[in-house]
Amino acid sequence: MIVYKYFKKGRTVSSEDISKIPNSLQEHWMPFTSNKDFKENPRLITGAKGVYLTNHKGKTMIDASSGLFCNPFGHGRKEITEAVAKQLEQLDYCQPFQQGFGGSFDLATKIARHTPGNLNRIFYTICGSTAVETAIKISVAYHRAKGDSQRFRFIGRERGYHGMNIGAISVGGMVNNIKTFASILMPGVAHIRHTHLPEHKFISGQPTTGVELADDLERIAVNFGGENIAACIVEPIAGSTGTLVPPKGYLKRLREICNKHGILLIFDEVITGWGRTGSAFASQEFGVTPDIITMAKATTNGVVPMGVVACKEEIYDAVMDAAPKGAVELFHGYTYSGIPVAVAAALAVQDIIEKENIFNRAKEMAPYFQKGLFTLQDIDVVENIRGYGMMGGIDMKMNVKPGKAGFECFKACYEVGVNFKATGDCLIIAPQFICEKKHIDEIINKLRTGILNYSKNLKN
Ligand SMILES: Cc1ncc(COP(=O)(O)O)c(C=O)c1O
Repeated sequence: MIVYKYFKKGRTVSSEDISKIPNSLQEHWMPFTSNKDFKENPRLITGAKGVYLTNHKGKTMIDASSGLFCNPFGHGRKEITEAVAKQLEQLDYCQPFQQGFGGSFDLATKIARHTPGNLNRIFYTICGSTAVETAIKISVAYHRAKGDSQRFRFIGRERGYHGMNIGAISVGGMVNNIKTFASILMPGVAHIRHTHLPEHKFISGQPTTGVELADDLERIAVNFGGENIAACIVEPIAGSTGTLVPPKGYLKRLREICNKHGILLIFDEVITGWGRTGSAFASQEFGVTPDIITMAKATTNGVVPMGVVACKEEIYDAVMDAAPKGAVELFHGYTYSGIPVAVAAALAVQDIIEKENIFNRAKEMAPYFQKGLFTLQDIDVVENIRGYGMMGGIDMKMNVKPGKAGFECFKACYEVGVNFKATGDCLIIAPQFICEKKHIDEIINKLRTGILNYSKNLKN
């Protein structure tokens, strides 16, 4: 076998590797990545089709996390590619301020058909983080428009993830994401406790204990004055910290407390939106209607960045009514808010959802996936498993320090051909909705092999 040398460190690789590896990996500072580890042992993805990915070694891997929860309708969807290509030829860009194009209005109408209640007013952003930031700003603008300018406080939740801009990390609850930036966080934010209790061991679906954790919001409202709080933001199911499913009755109780104090309730459905639970939104799945929903990821099947904020009509009306005629009502927006390519991809996704009855498909496959997922509980290095719909979290037992087990296990699984994301010591599993039973079997079998390989290496 020919062996090449590459990179400054002179690492050696086999001849299969080399053609797909760029000359230098040094210049690209990769996000949320152990750059040093990656550059020693790169994992490059070179192709994607359906439920499979190909890496630079020519190995096929099954995608067990729909990318980052964003490609649930399958990789390489021709309908989306064609819609984007057609849009680029016809109208590649138009500025979204004081101007528009038809597609963004058509898309808003289609999105509003799926959102719960009267969350029928649609604001476009660039991604999940900007959707959250926008929801924060809309909350403040709404209260101000109603003469409630003292409402500046926001309530987030421990173990929540809402993205990485300052607004999003301030309301988020993941300590590693804020440590470095603690001095520049948004003021006035408090957090309620997360919903994961020690007794929530190997539970598929909603735990029956823990509803009272929602009362944290009442305590904060009493301590700070509910009249000072603009909004409470939660993910209906915390996704990035490993599928923390809300206890039965929990979201309903949050809703009641918000109503009592005039606090807006924001559901961050960047992960749960567009079918992940088996309903269009987790809001419908759990029968609780928030005031604002944020979404992103699956909106375009992940192929063009786009975020969306859906608001109740009365929020929009209040902001409109407060501004003089002819004035810009909300001084907020992005160069890439609802740009034609993103809209074209999202419209194609809407067609796929309709034609392929996607939400039902996810709902029907969910029990099979959940059953498979929980078969992994007999592996000794598995600490806990949680799941709901087409989402699952597998906690690995800690190995020396937090995060090591998750990362090592992710790498062992990658080697046996199953790809996903690990956060800390949790393996995040979120199969595509187009998966057939044989794909779910493949995911579970490969997870078993990968986790066992990791476990064997521990013992050696
Ligand atoms: C619930 C939730 N909100 C917001 C975000 C941020 O989205 P983005 O990375 O597109 O900014 C994420 C990303 O994973 C998310 O899971």
